[in-house]
Amino acid sequence: MTKEDIITALDLGTTKISAIIAEVNEKDEVNVVGVGTTPSYGLRRGVVVNLDKTVAGIRQAVGEAELMAGVKVNNVVVGIAGDHIKSFNSRGVIAVSRTEEGISNEDIKRVIEQAKAVTIPMDRKIVHVLPQDYTVDDQTGIKEPVGMAGIRLEAEVHIVSAAVTAVSNIIKSIERANLSVRDIILQPYASSFAVLDEEEKELGVCLIDVGGGTTDFAIFFEGSIRHTSVVGLGGVNITNDIAIGLRTPRAQAEEIKKRYGVAIASLVDTNEMMEVPGVGGRKKREVSRQILGSIIEPRMEEIFSLVEREIKRSGFDDRLTAGIVLTGGTAKMEGIDQLAERIFDLPVKIGIPKGIVGLTDAVSDPVHAGGIGLILYGYRHKEETGFFDKKAGFFDKIIKRIVNWFKSI
Ligand SMILES: Nc1ncnc2c1ncn2[C@@H]1O[C@H](COP(=O)(O)OP(=O)(O)OP(=O)(O)O)[C@@H](O)[C@H]1O
Ligand SMILES: [Mg+2]
Repeated sequence: MTKEDIITALDLGTTKISAIIAEVNEKDEVNVVGVGTTPSYGLRRGVVVNLDKTVAGIRQAVGEAELMAGVKVNNVVVGIAGDHIKSFNSRGVIAVSRTEEGISNEDIKRVIEQAKAVTIPMDRKIVHVLPQDYTVDDQTGIKEPVGMAGIRLEAEVHIVSAAVTAVSNIIKSIERANLSVRDIILQPYASSFAVLDEEEKELGVCLIDVGGGTTDFAIFFEGSIRHTSVVGLGGVNITNDIAIGLRTPRAQAEEIKKRYGVAIASLVDTNEMMEVPGVGGRKKREVSRQILGSIIEPRMEEIFSLVEREIKRSGFDDRLTAGIVLTGGTAKMEGIDQLAERIFDLPVKIGIPKGIVGLTDAVSDPVHAGGIGLILYGYRHKEETGFFDKKAGFFDKIIKRIVNWFKSI
């Protein structure tokens, strides 16, 4: 295995840092060869709040994955998330340069630059410009306009921007861990490569990553990303509610949640009991599991209602034919799919990462949708051919520029 065949993903979460190493094998499959996960103490809602602890976490997770894989890595594809991310759709229009070949890559570049030419605050920077559709003269909904004849080219794009300081600190943490940043990807966009089918993206789907600190989501329709947003609540809030509600230390509340948690109280029998350790030497108690459910349910409802409101605001609420796909650690909660069905009134499925071989047992878990998504993004980015190859080259340059720009401040 050469260094070029290796892709390493770094998922910097609020509750865990995970590193996944994969190689592209001779059958052109993505083979996961190493996984390292460690609790995260230096990040909150996608933002580095303690540099040293983040660096230590990165070293630990990458070190574990390297040991398992028997390789040394030097660069990573990293995800960014959190409520500092803002995204919006924009459009650019240009007059096509008059050549015999029709619309060229140069024209695409120009129209994207045009769409990107929007004013954003000084403390923010664009991290993604994701093309959605092109319009050539009056023909709308074109995905690949290169080579087509036309006079006027219009592009619709999804622009993702992030707080400069947030991204700079992520890059700093990675470099202090003696690694370099190969690519920076919006986390829910990356996750879509691990859990969504092309068909779902075509029909209309909302991917919701219910993590520890935040709930990030992305809407896809007609094959392209249409809307992304974040709700600043996640599993950690549920754990805190349980700690308060059951008067138990947070660490125990976390264990209880994972073991007995249920998103709809009425799903469990009234006389189903569980043991709750007491605080400060107090005796342990027997509590009904339904009570636990009645603590979790309103918080889950709140999270999904905030997502639903945002989906409505995006205008894509009646276009989600393929429904909702839930992923992230909190998606493992019993009954979460039923609760989501109730709130969104759409079909719901749990997204487990797929599209890989190798250590599938270790990563077939919604917790790893982010990491596997980053790997698959890295892989596709590398393998894209033809027109996309040229386009990827163009976006590669943007990424390099982004990384250098963030490093320069
Ligand atoms: N079986 C389970 N039932 C309920 N919740 C669970 C379960 N397993 C894990 N979780 C919760 O999932 C959360 C962690 O998920 P994940 O790893 O996706 O988050 P993260 O990436 O660390 O955070 P974020 O993406 O918000 O920064 C924790 O709050 C954890 O308690
Ligand atoms: Mg996460």
